[in-house]
Amino acid sequence: MTVSEHEKLKSTCMGCRKCPLFSTRTNVVFACGNPEAKIMFVGEGPGEQEDKTGEPFVGKSGQLLDKYLKLIDLDRRTNIYITNIVKCRPPRNRDPEPQEQEICIDYLRGQVRAIRPKIIVCLGRIAAQKLISPTFRVSADHGKFTEKGGIIFMATFHPSALLRNESNKPLALADFQVLREKIRELDLLNGS
Ligand code: URA
Repeated sequence: MTVSEHEKLKSTCMGCRKCPLFSTRTNVVFACGNPEAKIMFVGEGPGEQEDKTGEPFVGKSGQLLDKYLKLIDLDRRTNIYITNIVKCRPPRNRDPEPQEQEICIDYLRGQVRAIRPKIIVCLGRIAAQKLISPTFRVSADHGKFTEKGGIIFMATFHPSALLRNESNKPLALADFQVLREKIRELDLLNGS
């Protein structure tokens, strides 16, 4: 897939009415970042600020994510790509229903085909269970790499969970450092 196919996928997604979340959304939150990046981050679904602005991770949890990214020389606009499992805000920020995830996952599959990331970082349980394993436990399995279909996956704590439970912040920081090492080992920032 080319960058223009990414744009086509985006415009289809922007008009999506395939699940009930379309009726309560303000904006579809497709993604942000560089469609040519080698590193993709996947969260759960848009919250209030994201629904208002159309950009992923712009609320309080996004500010924390930006801080961690900066520590390892990543930046949401230049060298990574950020998206979510579901592209529309679930009411009152509830977990996206399995059926909503299943309907929306085709967009993420299209994004992965278009971007061809080398690493996908799952932010939190919902993304990790959908993309890595249905039994994934963030507390036990965070920071570990696993390969599927030529892509390296890892998961870390969701930034909102870190805001609720600050005691996990050092573990999250260690995950980002391990990620930095992997990025260096694979030379993924070369050219972006
Ligand atoms: N939480 C998510 O999982 N994704 C966002 O875009 C914002 C908050």
